[in-house]
Amino acid sequence: MAGSKGEGSRGGDPRGGSRPLAPDEIDDLLRVAHAVALLAYSPYSGLQVGAALLCDDGSVHAGCNVENASYGLTLCAERVAMVRAVASGARGFRAMALASSQTHPVLPCGACRQFLHELAPGLRFHAQGSEGPRVDASLSELLPRAFGPGDVGRAGDRP
Ligand code: THU
Repeated sequence: MAGSKGEGSRGGDPRGGSRPLAPDEIDDLLRVAHAVALLAYSPYSGLQVGAALLCDDGSVHAGCNVENASYGLTLCAERVAMVRAVASGARGFRAMALASSQTHPVLPCGACRQFLHELAPGLRFHAQGSEGPRVDASLSELLPRAFGPGDVGRAGDRP
């Protein structure tokens, strides 16, 4: 039911963790991530990161890193993709593809792991650098025993 506890208003599992993606679905999502990485605003680090978040409704929300002269206000690609998805009304999250200009795959930083855990604790990642093999991981592997909504009395009460 729309708006009921533990369910996103557009159905599916709001926490992520539904059927794993097929190889061609991963390739498609990675293509989006590589494309958006090229749009990164990263004059300080020079690193380009792209994230493509696939939602249960089939929508894909892309984000790139956006740096700031203050350094600390820099936004990572993963958080940009998630806030774009939420602001579009998406709530069920299936997987996130990550592309970076590094030769090796880059997985989310600690801050992004915590941020994504709020809405998609079961999320799977498919990461790829500019060359070499892909790396797959789940958020629960990357952030075990996480602090989350349940620890502030909000378990299963996600909007
Ligand atoms: N970055 C991301 O976009 N995602 C991560 O998970 C790690 C780091 C960005 C932030 C910054 O613009 C640059 O990479 C170097 O840290």
